[in-house]
Amino acid sequence: MDIAGIRDQFPALNRVEGGRQAIYLDGPAGTQVPNSVIDATAAIMRAGYSNLGGPYDASRLSEATLEAARSAMADLYNASPEEIVFGQNMTSHTFAMSRALAATWDPGDEIVLTRLDHDANVEPWLRVAGEREVTVRWADFHDYALTPEAIGAELGPKTRLVAVGAASNALGTVVDIAAVSRLVRQTDALLYVDAVHYAPHRLIDVRAWDVDFLVASSYKFFGPHIGILYGKAHHLANLPAYKVRPAPDSGPDRWETGTQSFESLAGVTAAVDYLATFGEGETRRQQLENGYGEIAEYEAGLAERFLAGVAELGHVTVHGLGGSGRVSTFSVEVAGLTDSEVAAKLGKQGIYVSNGTYYAVEVMQQLGKAGLVRIGFLHYNTVEEVDAVLSALDGLA
Ligand SMILES: Cc1ncc(COP(=O)(O)O)c(C=O)c1O
Repeated sequence: MDIAGIRDQFPALNRVEGGRQAIYLDGPAGTQVPNSVIDATAAIMRAGYSNLGGPYDASRLSEATLEAARSAMADLYNASPEEIVFGQNMTSHTFAMSRALAATWDPGDEIVLTRLDHDANVEPWLRVAGEREVTVRWADFHDYALTPEAIGAELGPKTRLVAVGAASNALGTVVDIAAVSRLVRQTDALLYVDAVHYAPHRLIDVRAWDVDFLVASSYKFFGPHIGILYGKAHHLANLPAYKVRPAPDSGPDRWETGTQSFESLAGVTAAVDYLATFGEGETRRQQLENGYGEIAEYEAGLAERFLAGVAELGHVTVHGLGGSGRVSTFSVEVAGLTDSEVAAKLGKQGIYVSNGTYYAVEVMQQLGKAGLVRIGFLHYNTVEEVDAVLSALDGLA
């Protein structure tokens, strides 16, 4: 992977602010976007587009844009286009799907949530569980790892749903979703996977994993702000969707409320195409499979360098796993400083990080922390940036 070439494609990464180039770590704004995504988003708006269903070119452009985006996301998830639902973001998708699924639950049923998850995969389920008198069982992480067995131990004949994240946005921990799925399949429960934090780092495969639902957000994988839900076709067809009466009542459309953000859909396709440029292959899916291998290897190098460097800094503690079983996202604590003080001091040096809970409420409660500082490296970060972050952390002693 020619990282210099990649960075040329990202205007934000090359912008000089206050006399220096900022370092964008995986943070509150999600990821930055390449020119191809910006161009695709602008192009449809320039071309003239309209709502679906009109007998004119502007409408046909929107229809073609929607179709292309479904096909791109089907490649990214390894799904069929008719299993792809677009919506506002992951959180909104999950609130909508939690209401629909809960309509099929009875009092005394059980669901399994995890302490490692972002609140967007927790609170929607807690809400409907409370409303339906459904029991919530919790799978805990231990030593920063969440094992399939910890989830399996909570399963039983009454379990209706397991909601779990594929990668923690706080600790970087990766969960073996295929192994979780094998345990869930021994019951009647459905499996709902939050892949928001996983998507920029690792290849998603809903078929190999055999999940019922999976959601990610395109702004985390170098696209615009739009959430994309995968659902097995029969679930999308049969579950009760909250929709207005004239809207289509078949296919993924029945879950897509109101008018779609066609400009974002154009950007989603461009983002998937961008990711596909990292790998060789005859199909876009093959390119993605190979491309994610390149991304994972490159990020592992950055992570190794960061972990080795930070181990030398006595005043910095990393909360998370060592080398394996994780993506390159680290939660750190600096002795003598609060998380917001650290973020502010790094921000002054042009290093953009998140701090607080990053909505991983349960994680922070388990760790007994009010907040931490997230330092996350993506494929567009460089070895020099890792060194600059280490040196800035050193300076906080
Ligand atoms: C792991 C994880 N899940 C869910 C979300 C929520 O995603 P969205 O902003 O698309 O609702 C985030 C956002 O940061 C996240 O990191």
